[in-house]
Amino acid sequence: MKILAIDTSCDETSVAISNKQTILSNIVSSQVSTHKKWGGVVPILAKRKHIDNIDKTIELALQRANLTCKDINIFAVTYGPGLSIALEVGIAKAKELASKFDKPIIGVNHMAAHVYANFALTKNSSPYSIPLEQQEDIFPSIALLISGGHTEFVYMRDHLSFEKLGETLDDSIGEAFDKTATILHLGYPGGPIIETLSKNGDPTEFTLPIALKNTPSIKLSYSGLKTATIQLVEQIGIKQKSMFERYKDAPLSTNPQDLYSPSLSKKPTYKLKKSQLCNIAASFQTAATKQLELNLEKSLKQTNSKNILLGGGVVNNLYIRKQLRKVAKKYNAQIWYPKNKNLRTDNAAMVAVCAYFMYKYNLYSKIDKLDRIPTDSIENSTKHFI
Ligand code: KG4
Ligand code: ZN
Repeated sequence: MKILAIDTSCDETSVAISNKQTILSNIVSSQVSTHKKWGGVVPILAKRKHIDNIDKTIELALQRANLTCKDINIFAVTYGPGLSIALEVGIAKAKELASKFDKPIIGVNHMAAHVYANFALTKNSSPYSIPLEQQEDIFPSIALLISGGHTEFVYMRDHLSFEKLGETLDDSIGEAFDKTATILHLGYPGGPIIETLSKNGDPTEFTLPIALKNTPSIKLSYSGLKTATIQLVEQIGIKQKSMFERYKDAPLSTNPQDLYSPSLSKKPTYKLKKSQLCNIAASFQTAATKQLELNLEKSLKQTNSKNILLGGGVVNNLYIRKQLRKVAKKYNAQIWYPKNKNLRTDNAAMVAVCAYFMYKYNLYSKIDKLDRIPTDSIENSTKHFI
């Protein structure tokens, strides 16, 4: 059972080939360098890059798997959630291939795919996360999804059964890392940079707020943390002139538009010492993680689950994993996450594995109905296009 899967949901063009749950190839063509200078993903640039990259990526994935399109039994593609104009590139290509080779197509929810990265196997049948013999007994589980667009606790009674326990009311945790890095002028994506700085920081130097910590329900919020970080920077940093102010008295150049452009921010920037930066990063990371710890505890109490499946790019963060493991231990539960970094951040291998389970449950998509759903909830992931 060979599956070719495509993911173009955000800023990576990814194509993978699997044989059932076994990953034969997983190509990720990253666009980070394109979006870096804009401090975040620019959808139209992402779309153009996907169009440029998709055929080459498919070719390379097939080559690495030693297969051709004729060997593929099922084509799978992410239909959402994600950037609308980026998703449509992958969907159009998957439909084109499924029609040309007269094979079935399966539309996959990107967040469900992050969960299913935990069921992937290597070519030697060793697990990336959960060993095959333990996969049958893994439910009920809690899926904790922490990515650039999502922070959600999901209860899974069984395969492909998703019941949201709670989620963030505003920003996602990945977004909070990225926005905080922007506030501190550190670059994009912010998660790995903040994690690195935190290692040399003292989290007790500054106290940042832990939102909704006394709420009994499973709920998170990250926008207040961002505002508190801005306020802290304004308090302790040395005020610099804004770009606008700095150029205000400059003699008119040959192109005065450049200097007085309204896009020049009137807000001042703040200079921080390296030690202050590290301490803010550490305080931010501690406060952001604490919300995950508190809500994981509530989820474990509520559901009595003994397995926690982690998914999404923020799972790369070692401190977060360490803290979550401590909570799990207290409840005699086990944390699972893909050991390979490429299966944690966006990739198509996870889409192929999820599609394999959908195939087992006969969840094919009707090709003419399959379309992007940019804000789809994981709870509806098996209910479309049938
Ligand atoms: O799952 P993902 O690759 O894409 C989405 O589906 O959103 O997640 C990307 C997010 C970004 O916000 C990035 O900053 C965050 O994952 N991230 C991290 C780390 N590595 C990536 N956040 C915290 N610590 C990290 N080490
Ligand atoms: Zn993702």
